[in-house]
Amino acid sequence: MKIIETIKEMREFVQQAQQQVQSIALVPTMGSLHEGHLTLMNRAVQACDIVVVSIFINPTQFGPNEDLAKYPRDLAGDSEKAASTGVQVIFHPRADEMYPEGYSSFIEVEGITEKLCGLSRLGHFRGVATVVSKLLNIVQPNKAFFGQKDAQQVLVLERMVTDLNMNVTLEVVPIVREADGLAMSSRNAFLSAIERRAGLVLSRSLKRAEELVAEGETDVEKIRTQVIAEIKSEKLASCEYAEIYSYPTLQDVTVLQDKGLLALAVRIGNTRLIDNTILEVK
Ligand code: PAJ
Repeated sequence: MKIIETIKEMREFVQQAQQQVQSIALVPTMGSLHEGHLTLMNRAVQACDIVVVSIFINPTQFGPNEDLAKYPRDLAGDSEKAASTGVQVIFHPRADEMYPEGYSSFIEVEGITEKLCGLSRLGHFRGVATVVSKLLNIVQPNKAFFGQKDAQQVLVLERMVTDLNMNVTLEVVPIVREADGLAMSSRNAFLSAIERRAGLVLSRSLKRAEELVAEGETDVEKIRTQVIAEIKSEKLASCEYAEIYSYPTLQDVTVLQDKGLLALAVRIGNTRLIDNTILEVK
């Protein structure tokens, strides 16, 4: 497996590969790889001849008071994990390689970015859309792989790819969880043992909502109220948002019809965790 650090070298690799193979996959990540990331890579390895994993902690998607500086980094461990899945290349550029002096172009996806994480992390999706479009331009993959863990991110990127006529198919992989239900995340590493247990409140409250819907509840406010009560029952948790929107359009709804996205952002101590589920009315 190769580790490439410059855009020039990455482009040269892609140009050569395009003459030899049918398909290239890109799996964008910020590193500190876990089973969730590795599941994306396994899918990519099955689907395409060459898989490029980008590891880049993208500064433009972090707000001024967020955890950019302390975001976990482990290139050596990540390289071993990625290699074990059969990935051929890690693209690991420096921040000034991606955003050299004078850099001034950004992508704004309107509408669906004005709620959930777009509201609580202003500018976040501008940074995500910008870096992903840059990575797609550099690697020119046939397919790019993303996780449903970041449900709104997927919707934003699908919108961007459609609106800007980008020649790539986005593949979405279901949320990978620990055995006890906690959604895997690089940020789980910040949790103490007590906080780790408290973090289970996210998956537990999503389950509660799924049960309510299975029992026939479709009143969005009633479902939300129970979810918020469940989160409040955990002393270490503070709820940033717990919202239900139509899925995949993310419109306001009062009565669930067909599919709704229940999305949570909850702080456990200083660590912000997100999780979600698609509520389906049968
Ligand atoms: P990161 O948080 O490293 O996640 C990289 C990819 O792994 C994303 O598509 C994310 O949805 C997916 N992923 C993370 N945890 C997962 C889980 N438990 N189950 C399934 N998939 C999971 O998301 C980002 O990085 C960045 O915003 C990025 C797209 C790389 C742009 O900088």
